[in-house]
Amino acid sequence: MRVIGIESSCDETAVAVFDSELGLLAHRLHSQVAMHQAYGGVVPELASRDHVRRLLPLVRQVLADAASDRDSIEGIAYTAGPGLIGALLVGAGFARSLAYAWGRPAVGIHHLEGHLLAPLLEPNPPAFPFLALLVSGGHTQLVDVAGLGRYRILGESLDDAAGEAFDKTAKLLGLPYPGGAALARIAQSGRRGQFTFPRPMLDRPGLEFSFSGLKTAALVALRGRALDDQVRADIAFAFQEAVVATLVEKSRRALQLTGHRRLVVAGGVGANLALREQLRALGSGSGAELYFPRPEFCTDNGAMIALAGCLRLQAGWVQAPAAPARAIWELGDDANQGD
Ligand code: KG4
Ligand code: ZN
Repeated sequence: MRVIGIESSCDETAVAVFDSELGLLAHRLHSQVAMHQAYGGVVPELASRDHVRRLLPLVRQVLADAASDRDSIEGIAYTAGPGLIGALLVGAGFARSLAYAWGRPAVGIHHLEGHLLAPLLEPNPPAFPFLALLVSGGHTQLVDVAGLGRYRILGESLDDAAGEAFDKTAKLLGLPYPGGAALARIAQSGRRGQFTFPRPMLDRPGLEFSFSGLKTAALVALRGRALDDQVRADIAFAFQEAVVATLVEKSRRALQLTGHRRLVVAGGVGANLALREQLRALGSGSGAELYFPRPEFCTDNGAMIALAGCLRLQAGWVQAPAAPARAIWELGDDANQGD
């Protein structure tokens, strides 16, 4: 089965073709970062308008890259939520029109399901069941994944997501939006022990996270200090160390609690090298097998949506949706999965 996937939930327009026999045939992405940078963050209306401009050319290019024509496409998958509602509706309207015109089914995919299935795009993919650590710009969750569509959230952030904390702290350090990757880059020249940030929620049992206090810790560290590159790097190092320690410890607890032997890490913060390294150490210490998507499939992409759509269509997932897109949508709530 061959499926085209469309991602437009935030500031990236991405399209891919996935084939159940041949794997990923093509993927392309247009990033809106340059457009939003002047405003210091994503401007939803600009995002929606840009998705309108980009989608059709991207679909044409990806079909050409995949040497596929419309007749070979058996389904159209799109991100139905959560995300910016205007941006989602552009993708949903586009995908459903394409489905109608081509006489193929459309399937609305949960964006986080896309993320947690992304390691299945790699050689040596994880088998079900597994534990997933989802760390994106909007969500931080530990998820018990029993199988396709069988997700139980074990713990999540009570306030900021890990990626959001990276972005906000990066902004405090004067780094341009989106700051997560830039903060990680300068943290490489940071020195251990110059600053100590709190490890949120580690002193309490449970699998909840809280990252909003780290912004305050960063503000306190910055106060009254001349900000040269070394100080910036030292603060970035201490911040990253605190986030990574928290994510790793909660993952360790979740592995212990569930007895899972496989840990999947996905979402934009999954591209963070310090996190990958520490989780690898956790894996070798606890005997759990570790699975990451390649860094470009940690952040938003169309390949994960095409893959999730293909798996769902193959499983015969054809439910009438209540709405084409949802801005807020809990993972595991399948009331609006697709049509
Ligand atoms: O999954 P994603 O592309 O979008 C959402 O679904 O939210 O994640 C984007 C987030 C942003 O907050 C970005 O700053 C963060 O992932 N991010 C990173 C790194 N690369 C991206 N955070 C830390 N280290 C990185 N290398
Ligand atoms: Zn995402």
